[in-house]
Amino acid sequence: MSEAELYTQHKEVYLLSGLHTPQSLQYFEDFTFRHDDIIIVTYPKSGTTWMQEIVPLIMSGGDPASVESLHNWDRVPWLEIYSSCNLELEKRPSPRMFATHFQYKMMPRSFFEVKPKVIYVMRNPKDVFTSYLHYSKVASFLVNPGPQREFLQKFLDGKVLHGSWFDHIKGWLNAEDKDRIMYISYEEMITDLKDSVARIAQYLEKPLDAEVIEKIADRCLFENMKKNKMSNYSAVPSELMDRTKSEFLRKGITGDWKNQLTVAEAEYFDTVYKDKMKDVKYKFVWDQNELDEHTG
Ligand code: A3P
Repeated sequence: MSEAELYTQHKEVYLLSGLHTPQSLQYFEDFTFRHDDIIIVTYPKSGTTWMQEIVPLIMSGGDPASVESLHNWDRVPWLEIYSSCNLELEKRPSPRMFATHFQYKMMPRSFFEVKPKVIYVMRNPKDVFTSYLHYSKVASFLVNPGPQREFLQKFLDGKVLHGSWFDHIKGWLNAEDKDRIMYISYEEMITDLKDSVARIAQYLEKPLDAEVIEKIADRCLFENMKKNKMSNYSAVPSELMDRTKSEFLRKGITGDWKNQLTVAEAEYFDTVYKDKMKDVKYKFVWDQNELDEHTG
């Protein structure tokens, strides 16, 4: 189906008509945050589900009960989707855990007044694109990506669900109150998951023994997490996600774009990236990695 059939525009960003209903968008707009809420913020395909596993495990001191009994979307619900309106989130005990794919400019008033804690997960956009391309072939509620070069152009133009990766990352990097935001990359988590878990726990002011950190990191390794039915999307009906084409936890690696993009596509991506990111001072891990490859 086409964009017109599946998507709706909200604050100039494509959302899903069936998931982001007027009621749920109003719910998001009126939501009352608490200062100790923890919000996982991501552009899609950047490591949301991974963080929806890590953060609850940290907050429970390593007790797997919640990640074994609650689906990731109930355990750390997206605030903007219609099912969240019925979860009675206002009754949940503190500290509550939420997720959102929304851009900084789309956050509601209470967010800016109350300043909850944010964990912003970012990923090499070429890998985000690759993951998004595969996901778009699997998920019937997304517009079929069509030929790769067409989907690439849509991705770079922000004409995909949740809009432009560039706007997303630039908005959140330029956020006020940066002491309330932890920026972490998918690449850092792949390189050293134990260290990443330890840093997240420190940011969340949840002191944990080295042994517990190790247990959490082990549980959240790709191959182990893939087995968790509460996190691997196997509960989603096959009409919505055709897992015979690809699993939701698909490859879980860095640099898969090299298997996906042609040389010309990768060069085009770099040209657009350099232009759109020219004013951004932040040192991304993936830029450094690619530099090392070229010089090393
Ligand atoms: P790939 O498609 O490249 O494999 P999101 O949850 O934001 O939609 O992101 C999905 C991406 O995160 C997928 O990437 C998925 O495999 C990856 N992912 C999920 N859990 C992971 C884990 N434990 N380790 C590494 N990658 C993980």
